[in-house]
Amino acid sequence: MVASEPGPVLLRLFQGRDVSEISRIVAESLHEHYDPSLYFSLSQAWPDGFLIASDTMDRPVGFLLGVSQVPGEARVLMFAVDRNYRIRGVGTRLMDAFLERCRTKLLRRATLEVRVSNATAIRFYTRFAFSVTDLLRGYYSDGENGYQMAREVAERPPGSGGLGA
Ligand SMILES: CC(C)(COP(=O)(O)OP(=O)(O)OC[C@H]1O[C@@H](n2cnc3c(N)ncnc32)[C@H](O)[C@@H]1OP(=O)(O)O)[C@@H](O)C(=O)NCCC(=O)NCCS
Repeated sequence: MVASEPGPVLLRLFQGRDVSEISRIVAESLHEHYDPSLYFSLSQAWPDGFLIASDTMDRPVGFLLGVSQVPGEARVLMFAVDRNYRIRGVGTRLMDAFLERCRTKLLRRATLEVRVSNATAIRFYTRFAFSVTDLLRGYYSDGENGYQMAREVAERPPGSGGLGA
């Protein structure tokens, strides 16, 4: 049987009922397990920084969870798209919308951490004008090194969008 093509995806903000699907995506894509209360507390701290890509049944198929704990800065804490929905622009829309939210909040800089082995994500972030600012030795719980990457958020890339279809 041939799997059906994934349908259209909409962007919206996080809601409490998303937690189980977000936990599933985090487990499958990031191999991490967090207490559900983490998602609630971070979304309360900055509701606009927690963006959900949802399918036609309003089920999350990807998300970007950003925090703003340093004045003037945003940090991408978690970012993943369900395997079946990758390479069709969902991640790009999430990142575009996130950077737009950063501009609205007058943040100057966005940072993130990524495993040195995660070539797909590093290429994605490089396309979004993030560059490596630091090597984080033994950053991950399994001992792998990480890169810190950062970019200014002021400039709006050509063809960028916001929330919506
Ligand atoms: C990183 C990640 C979120 C990107 O999500 P995505 O939805 O696949 O992202 P996009 O589809 O917008 O872009 C992915 C690539 O597909 C390309 N693409 C997008 N739509 C396309 C289309 N219709 N046809 C062909 N290529 C397309 C993009 O140009 C992009 O290329 P590049 O990044 O190599 O330059 C996703 O790979 C993921 O969840 N990875 C596992 C979790 C992870 O590593 N997260 C980051 C941790 S730091």
